[in-house]
Amino acid sequence: MLFRTLVAGALITGSSVWAQEAVTPLPPFEVNPAQAELGKRLFYDARLSGDTSLSCSSCHQADKAFADGEALSQAYSGGAHFRNAPGLANVGYRAAWLHDGKLGTNLNDVAREMITETFLMNMDMRIMQERFKQDPVYVDMFAAAGYGEPSNGGARNALQEFLKTIISRNAPVDTGEMSESAQRGQVLFQGKGQCATCHSGERFTDDRPHNIGVPNNPEIWSDPMRHSVFVTYAKFMGVENYMNIREDLGAYVRTHQEETKRSFLTPSLRELTYTAPYMHNGMIATLQDVVDFYDGGGGEDLNKDRILQPLGLISGEKDDLVAFLQALSGDSFETEAYVWPDADFGYQLIEDWRNVNN
Ligand code: HEC
Ligand code: HEC
Repeated sequence: MLFRTLVAGALITGSSVWAQEAVTPLPPFEVNPAQAELGKRLFYDARLSGDTSLSCSSCHQADKAFADGEALSQAYSGGAHFRNAPGLANVGYRAAWLHDGKLGTNLNDVAREMITETFLMNMDMRIMQERFKQDPVYVDMFAAAGYGEPSNGGARNALQEFLKTIISRNAPVDTGEMSESAQRGQVLFQGKGQCATCHSGERFTDDRPHNIGVPNNPEIWSDPMRHSVFVTYAKFMGVENYMNIREDLGAYVRTHQEETKRSFLTPSLRELTYTAPYMHNGMIATLQDVVDFYDGGGGEDLNKDRILQPLGLISGEKDDLVAFLQALSGDSFETEAYVWPDADFGYQLIEDWRNVNN
């Protein structure tokens, strides 16, 4: 609320409010430090994937605000994903997760999906738990975190605690250090650009799906590995005629209502300078391109939100909007990336496990 009040104040009184007041709009969650520390190690551990080829950090990289810099994400060995890996800053504040909003319960549930989904980490959590029990570091860390012996429930809970620690810090929009251009951009963002209709509140999202007409990424259908993952997902979600669908249906996969076709959750606009390319399928490369896209009234789609109309921005206004979007990014998370003290340990363990079962 404090933040919203100050935004209103800034509009009325000009830039002085921003120059004087530093705001922390995203208060940290209450986090159990021992659990978060365990969650961080798990996040960087490739033993969470079936064949130990991927950790969470393969697709969510600290120096990219936990996105991966690719238009479309990688996937488990033998596949490739059909969606962009989202950044994870402030992810604990979301009301729903995944680009189509498929998961709406909590981060524990998201962690389960990431670990067990065949085309993500393809892990049987009973095996995962046995792997952790073989690692004396984990035995100590699970106990210190209050979970008892290593368990998959404890692992998911610890991952959730770690994700809650990824909070934006020191963005110019919070510290009161926005440039004049960014301040002009903010006025456009809230006024002429109509951006704040959907990108509202402290995270600049309403957490709801909208159709803005982002074109499909043709690679999903030209690359057989991406297509097969897409088909797997569409079939699982009960999409009729899934073999012949040539578009990402977005929120439709969970609502099955025609008017929700190709609508995607409004993303947060924090930390965008680290997370290019943009949109659910990485189809827009830069923030300049995003602003051009909205200036043209968004893409072409029968279901497109009617609020999107050509904006008629002149070039200085476009620069200002980009400057404002840049002012929503703060300190990099790179410095906090986890460094494995025992780099090869995981690979040794899976060999042991295979021997036991031979
Ligand atoms: C192979 C790449 C990959 C791996 C490994 C991976 N993710 Fe993801 N993650 C994705 C993609 C892609 C999405 C978006 C999927 C979608 O929209 O359907 C995503 C979405 C998420 C989200 C939801 C973000 C949001 O704003 O909706 C969270 C949280 C998350 N991942 C955490 C994790 C954690 C924790 C792990 C490890 C247990 C992990 N991810 C492993 C690719 C990956
Ligand atoms: C009708 C609601 C709506 C309005 C109005 C709107 N947006 Fe968006 N915005 C979205 C949705 C939904 C997405 C994600 C679409 C997708 O993933 O395909 C998005 C994506 C974005 C992204 C990419 C973020 C990322 O992480 O990929 C940026 C940047 C952005 N919008 C900025 C703006 C700006 C600037 C304006 C005003 C000129 C604006 N938006 C107006 C709903 C809206």
